Amino acid sequence: MSKKRIGILTSGGDCAGLNAAIRAVTRRAIDGYDWEVVGIRNGTLGLISEPVEAEILDKQTFGGILLRQGGTFLGASTKGNPFAFKMPDGQVKDRSAEFVAGFKSLNLDGLIGIGGDGSMKILNRLCELGDIPFIGIPKTIDNDVACTEFTIGFTTAVNVAVDALDRLLPTAASHHRVMVLEVMGRDAGHIALHAGIAGGADVILVPEIPHDMEMVAEKIRQVYEGEQRTHALVVVSEAIKTPEGKKVMHANEEGKMNYGGVGHVIGDQIAQLTGADTRVTVLGHLQRGGTPAMRDRVIASAFGVSAVDLMAQGKTNRMVAWQHREVVDVALDDVVTRYNNIDVAGTMVHTARGLGICLGD
Ligand code: F6P
Repeated sequence: MSKKRIGILTSGGDCAGLNAAIRAVTRRAIDGYDWEVVGIRNGTLGLISEPVEAEILDKQTFGGILLRQGGTFLGASTKGNPFAFKMPDGQVKDRSAEFVAGFKSLNLDGLIGIGGDGSMKILNRLCELGDIPFIGIPKTIDNDVACTEFTIGFTTAVNVAVDALDRLLPTAASHHRVMVLEVMGRDAGHIALHAGIAGGADVILVPEIPHDMEMVAEKIRQVYEGEQRTHALVVVSEAIKTPEGKKVMHANEEGKMNYGGVGHVIGDQIAQLTGADTRVTVLGHLQRGGTPAMRDRVIASAFGVSAVDLMAQGKTNRMVAWQHREVVDVALDDVVTRYNNIDVAGTMVHTARGLGICLGD
């Protein structure tokens, strides 16, 4: 009987901890089940390329280095939706059948896909179409995938933002300034809320809580006058709205809208309303790179091992998830129909308010 072969790919935006997950899948599949593992290059693009872009992974592939490295050595793409693929001439083509054909050409028995909520939707649909046994592993710095408490990459991104606040504070204090830090996170404010609490912010603005700039200005005045501390830290999520009710977005090279720049709008408003010397830092993709934090390596490893175990049990079309200190598996249909926003009545918001942090409301 020939060996079972599984494919693995990383889809969507990268983050720290992806290599740790690929390593865990490979080790578990080889040592636990004597399977072959095929790494597919550049997410879904690898399977619709002619010839398909893939390589056999073995334990030597990883050495001691990859566990510690950010990014994904397999490559990833945010442009690889085979259902609506933008061709070089600008036309949009359905290439889902090519994805399925590419998968079949590798003689694979199943696919493990590491992705965020958008990738889970696409991969779930593709695998249903091709009758491909599929297990998802959640990753994204945004931590916005439903049914899991943590996604791979979130903790590292928050650490980067906390480190930025640690660096901004002394310069804010030296120059008596308000420092505004804009962080990523898409439509969820998890990065801002966690980083703001851990980094001692005075104000945290998140998309889930509509803010009033007068409340923000009042908080800064309170800090300057009441607390007699002539510096303040403000953390803003990239997806909050401007005072005119707009989101600050830019079209990328594909025409897809990305967030970025609202921190400058908030900084200008603070300066205008309070007269405080204000500076703005947009942290951007720094949050996606760097050495993966301990928790990202740990959950990536646990997800990788469990994903292979699920495949071995024949339990497919599931996503591994972190719930109550354990890896569990959840139905992909439940994941792709929900979005994991901040719970405005939850512990983190309660903690921020309890610390006297202004959330803009
Ligand atoms: O989803 C991860 C993320 O980093 C978001 O926080 C951010 O809005 C977006 O991706 C940036 O996308 P890109 O890498 O395409 O600029």
